[in-house]
Amino acid sequence: MSDLDRYAVLGQPVGHSKSPRIHAAFAASLGQKLLYEAYEIAPDELGPSLSRFHAEGWAGFNLTVPHKQVGAALCESRSEAAEQAGAVNTLIRTATGWHGDNTDGAGLVRDLTANLGVAIKGKRVLVLGAGGAARGILVPLLAEGPAELAISNRNPWKPEEIAAALKPHGNIVPRTHLSLKGDRYDLIINATSAGHSGAIPRLPPKLFADGGIAYDLNYGQAAVPFMVWAKSEGAAQVSDGLGMLVEQAAEAFQRWRGVRPATAAVLAELRG
Ligand code: ATR
Repeated sequence: MSDLDRYAVLGQPVGHSKSPRIHAAFAASLGQKLLYEAYEIAPDELGPSLSRFHAEGWAGFNLTVPHKQVGAALCESRSEAAEQAGAVNTLIRTATGWHGDNTDGAGLVRDLTANLGVAIKGKRVLVLGAGGAARGILVPLLAEGPAELAISNRNPWKPEEIAAALKPHGNIVPRTHLSLKGDRYDLIINATSAGHSGAIPRLPPKLFADGGIAYDLNYGQAAVPFMVWAKSEGAAQVSDGLGMLVEQAAEAFQRWRGVRPATAAVLAELRG
């Protein structure tokens, strides 16, 4: 491993990305030297860019919106987590191409269990949304042993398709938002993109069990509508996804550099 290994996050838009700051802080905390940048890449440029970056000797990439799914298809090989998610957020250089991994689910579980003290085992868990973000977290959540894991969307087709595809990994209950009326969950995770347009999914009231917890995979402004709704619905604890962002980055750093950086100081700095 050279002292000047080069990494970047590729997305569109990517200007707002906190990843360069996070990885620079990880490297500094471990006394490592690396370069980590952010590049805006259009969707049809991803394939040619990855080939060029490989030829130029880059060590690894993070992929963010809108590249995670197409990026998976461009990888020469994929981890189990990437196959299950149907998406990659971390590319690791190999001699001949890129190995794709997905650390989003591991990052979420780590934030919930280690940072927020939320046990998933034995809990009734509901994931809202059935796009790429939702799919990426389901198998890691199942692995924690929830009493029930449900996935809900505006219409039934995507949840049914995802539950069927992930059946070998465990039972996922496909639902629609409106059919949730009368049910109660201990943990409700917002994996929709509605917050980016200031909205939340239309949901029945009283979905939180006593002591129920709300978690939004988004952070910043995009997490606000769901967190406000969750508080008004009596959630005992609400959190945005900033901790997941830092934890998925730590997982990626570990894949690239062989050591998992401590995350608490970086998370505190970003919150500050
Ligand atoms: P991502 O990669 O972020 O998951 P995506 O694959 O486009 O993005 O999925 C977006 C998810 O947010 C979907 O579940 C979408 O619901 P539909 O499948 O019904 O479109 C959900 N979503 C987006 N805007 C929403 C809104 N205003 N209300 C409810 N759900 C919304």
